Amino acid sequence: MIKKALLQIVPNSIYIYLKDKKKFFLTQKILRKSYDYDYKKYLSHSDSFSPNTSTKMIGNIIKTYHTIEKGLTMPEFRPGFGQQKVIELCHNCINYIKKYGDNEEQLKYAVQVILEYKTFHNSLNFALQPETENEIQNIRNYAPALTASSQIETTDVLYFKNAESSFDEFSNSRASVRNFTGKDIPLSSLTESLKLAQNTPSACNRQCWRTYVYTQSEQINEILEEQGGNRGFGHLTNKLIVITAELGVFNRHYERNQAYIDGGLYAMNLLYSLHFQKIAACILNCSTWPEKDVELRKLCKIKDSEVFIAMVACGLPPQKFKIAASKRYKIDVTNRFIS
Ligand SMILES: Cc1cc2nc3c(=O)[nH]c(=O)nc-3n(C[C@H](O)[C@H](O)[C@H](O)COP(=O)(O)O)c2cc1C
Repeated sequence: MIKKALLQIVPNSIYIYLKDKKKFFLTQKILRKSYDYDYKKYLSHSDSFSPNTSTKMIGNIIKTYHTIEKGLTMPEFRPGFGQQKVIELCHNCINYIKKYGDNEEQLKYAVQVILEYKTFHNSLNFALQPETENEIQNIRNYAPALTASSQIETTDVLYFKNAESSFDEFSNSRASVRNFTGKDIPLSSLTESLKLAQNTPSACNRQCWRTYVYTQSEQINEILEEQGGNRGFGHLTNKLIVITAELGVFNRHYERNQAYIDGGLYAMNLLYSLHFQKIAACILNCSTWPEKDVELRKLCKIKDSEVFIAMVACGLPPQKFKIAASKRYKIDVTNRFIS
């Protein structure tokens, strides 16, 4: 009725224009509301402010111990590295124990990593600062039964031994590698990995992922410097794969996060594909803020319509190297069967 009446007053072209405008404003409104909903969720539940729940405290503890375990596996070990982090970790573990007890498995592992840090420095006869020693002794008193963890020592042959085995053995054998030789990865192996990763499932098969493979060390180093999470090993990267996702294939407010979901699925599939091709890899975050995103876009020369998912530092591993243990939760912590 309204449409008929309107068409008698205004020409069809103006009617279509007004209809499009209305759709635009409605979509804009609902999109804002959806992002506002996300914003409030993140504001309320993320660990962006004081860590006031056991989950937030453990998240913090894992993040910090992981930096220490990574440091223990670096190609060129830096004695005395991260002492402030160790002190902070000791404090956080003690605070956690005081509030929630000492039975959390990631908490226990954090203490074990602290003990490994100490044992490793002892074995090198390296004297830690007195404050670090005190804090380590302090945490030891809180958890006297725990022993030092040990990061994984492996070889190139052992690491790829199960690259063609059954899925369980294959999956158990993949890990982030942060040590590469200067040898070139054959481009054919990289191409095969990219082909295999195309098997990733995606919403309505829209395959939003895009990759950029950087082969020149100067450009790789520039990008990795901006990424920032690869100190101690990034400079050994032989090829760098930047994974992005194209926003143009998604629509409406309910698909606002689909690029990250499908892009994430692709990233994991690519890691497995690289492992199958015996290419060692470490996935690196592209979690940025607007200014950094702009800088990274400039360096990587990605399209405006794409968003960053992650980057993957690739190389061939040396004969002997270490891998961070990255302890996983038991399945009853992260999984629930509902009956
Ligand atoms: C999205 C994402 C971002 C990551 N960013 C980094 C990074 O910036 N630097 C790094 O050394 N490792 C990074 N990692 C690797 C994780 O530390 C690693 O996957 C985790 O500890 C599990 O170990 P695993 O890969 O050996 O199984 C990242 C992993 C993911 C999934």
